[in-house]
Amino acid sequence: MNNHFRHDILVIGSGAAGLALALNLSEFGSIAVLSKNRLKDGSTWYAQGGIAAVLDDTDSIEAHVKDTLNAGGGLCHPDAVRFTVENSAEAIQWLVDQGVAFTRNEDNSDYHLTKEGGHSHRRIIHSADATGKAVHSTLIERIQARSNVDIFEQHIAIDLIQQADANSRRLRCSGAYVYNREEDTVCTFQAKVVILATGGASKAYLYTSNPDGASGDGIAMAWRAGCRVANMEFNQFHPTCLFHPNAKTLLITEALRGEGAHLKLPNGKRFMHRFSEQKELAPRDIVARAIDHEIKRLGCDHLYLDISHKSVDFINEHFPNVKKSCLKYGIDITKDPIPVVPAAHYTCGGVMVDENGQSDLMNLYAIGEASFTGLHGANRMASNSLLECLVYARSAAQHIKENLDTIPEMDTPNPWDESRVTDSDEDVVISHNWDELRRFMWDYVGIVRTQKRLERAQHRIKLLQREISEYYSNYKVSNDLIELRNLATVSQLIIRSAMERKESRGLHYSLDFPELGRVARDTILVPTNFAAQNIIVDKVE
Ligand code: FAD
Ligand code: SIN
Repeated sequence: MNNHFRHDILVIGSGAAGLALALNLSEFGSIAVLSKNRLKDGSTWYAQGGIAAVLDDTDSIEAHVKDTLNAGGGLCHPDAVRFTVENSAEAIQWLVDQGVAFTRNEDNSDYHLTKEGGHSHRRIIHSADATGKAVHSTLIERIQARSNVDIFEQHIAIDLIQQADANSRRLRCSGAYVYNREEDTVCTFQAKVVILATGGASKAYLYTSNPDGASGDGIAMAWRAGCRVANMEFNQFHPTCLFHPNAKTLLITEALRGEGAHLKLPNGKRFMHRFSEQKELAPRDIVARAIDHEIKRLGCDHLYLDISHKSVDFINEHFPNVKKSCLKYGIDITKDPIPVVPAAHYTCGGVMVDENGQSDLMNLYAIGEASFTGLHGANRMASNSLLECLVYARSAAQHIKENLDTIPEMDTPNPWDESRVTDSDEDVVISHNWDELRRFMWDYVGIVRTQKRLERAQHRIKLLQREISEYYSNYKVSNDLIELRNLATVSQLIIRSAMERKESRGLHYSLDFPELGRVARDTILVPTNFAAQNIIVDKVE
C-alpha cells in the first residue's frame, strides 16, 4: 500500500472553495484534493439562499459594498469588501461557464434575483432554494473530468508538515499527515503548496445548521503550525432553523423572509418592528438576538416563520425543497407557520490571509470559511460566503500559478510515527467530551454572553484540552479523535477571543459590556510558535 504521495498542490477540502481553486488552476501542475468524507459532504452542498453579486443595472458595487460594511458592524476591511464585490459578477459568470443552472425570471429574460437580510437590492442569484447542490454538483462533475487531479475521499488531514528551506531557513509548509479512514492508516501527502479549504467550525455548538464535519480542522491545523487567527468570537447564528425533535439540522432559508415571510410569536403577532426598522430583513445578528430575546422572555422553545399568506404556486416555485423537507416533519408551509430557532451557522473568523489567500506560513493558503479575509467583519451578510469562496479561490489559484516554479523541492518528510501509541480501549472518553464541549459552548458562549459564562467555559475547555491531549498522545488516531481535538482548539480560540472583546459588536453581544467600543479592532490571536516573526502584529492587549 502506498503511504507517501507527492503532488505539486495539495487542496484539503472539496467544498466550493477547494474545488473552485483546483478548477481555476485548470490543467496546471499535479493536484491532490482531499475530502474527509465524500466529495459532496460539507456546507456547500446544503447552501440554500444563493450567492450575492452585483448583476442588475439598478444595483451597484457601491451599494453592495455599503450593505456589507453596514452588516459587518464597523469591522469589515474595506479593501477586502471592495475586492470581493468588484469580482462578484465575474465569479458568477465563471459558475455559469462551468454549467451551473441558476433560476431565471418567469419570462426567461434574465436570472431571478432574490433578497436577504441586510441587502438593499435584489442581488442573490440562486437555483430555486437548493443553490449549494446546483453549484457543488457541477463543480464535482467538472473536477472528476480533470486528468491532473487525484481525488482522495475518506482522507482526513491531521496536521501540516513543515520543513526548513535550506536557503532562507524559514519554515515552509510542505504537506500534511493524513488519516485514511477506510484503510485505518496514516499517509504522508507532500506538496509544494498546501491549501486549507476545510470550512467552518460551527459543530463546536450543540445546535447548528452545519453538516457533520464542520469541526474547524483547518483553523486548528494552521494555529498549531504557527499561523495567526482572527475574530473567532464572531460565530454567526442563523435566525431560522427548523425546531422539531426529529430534525437534526434543517435550515429555513433567509430567502423566505426576502420573499415576504413573517416572523411571529406563539400568539401569531409579528414582533421584528420592535427591534429594527428593517423588520424581518435586518442583518442576521439582530434577527437572531431578537428571536433569542423573545424566546427567553416568553419562556417558550421556539417562534414561528410564516409564509402561508403567499400563493401555493409561488411557494412551489421558489421553495420546493424547504416545502418538501418540512412536509417530512408534518409541516405544510403553504398552510402552517414553521417552528424555528436560531442555530450556529457560520464562522466569521479564521486563518488570517491576504488578498491571495496566503497565510503566515510560507506556501500555506487558506480560503473559504476556514479563512479570515476581513470581508465579514463582526457579522457576515447573507450569501456573501459562497461569493468569498469563489473570489479568493481564483486569486489564490492565480498566485500559485505565478509562484509555483520558484518553490524548491523539499526532502521526503519523516513518516508518521505510531511507535508509542496503542489502540484505544475507551472510546467513551471521545463521545463524552464531544457532547460536553458542544453543550457548554451553546450554554456559555452562545448568542448572549457574560464574562462569568465565558470564564466557566474557559475553565472547562482547559480541562478538556488536557484530557484530549493526553488521550491523543497515547492512542491511535481516529476520525472522531481528530475532529474532537480540533473542536477543542477552535473552542478555546473562540472563548479566548470573546473574553478579549470588552464591548458588544455585531455577533458578539455581552451583557457585561453592552455598549459599542469607540475603536473597532480585530481580535488577533498570535500563537507562541508564530510562523512569520517578521510580520508586524497588531495584537490586542
Ligand atoms: P465546505 O463546503 O464546508 O467544505 C469543507 C470541505 O473540507 C469538505 O469537503 C470537508 O470534507 C473538507 N474537510 C474539512 N476538514 C478536513 C480535513 N481535516 N481533512 C480533509 N478534508 C477536510 N452561504 C452563502 O453564501 N449562501 C447560502 O445560501 C448559504 N446557505 C447555507 C446553508 C447552510 C445549511 C449552511 C450550513 C451554510 C450556508 N452558507 C451559505 C454558508 C456556505 O455554504 C459555506 O460558508 C460555504 O459553503 C463554505 O465552503 P467551503 O468550501 O469553505 O467549506
Ligand atoms: C440562507 O439561505 O438563509 C443562508 C444564506 C447564507 O448563509 O448566506
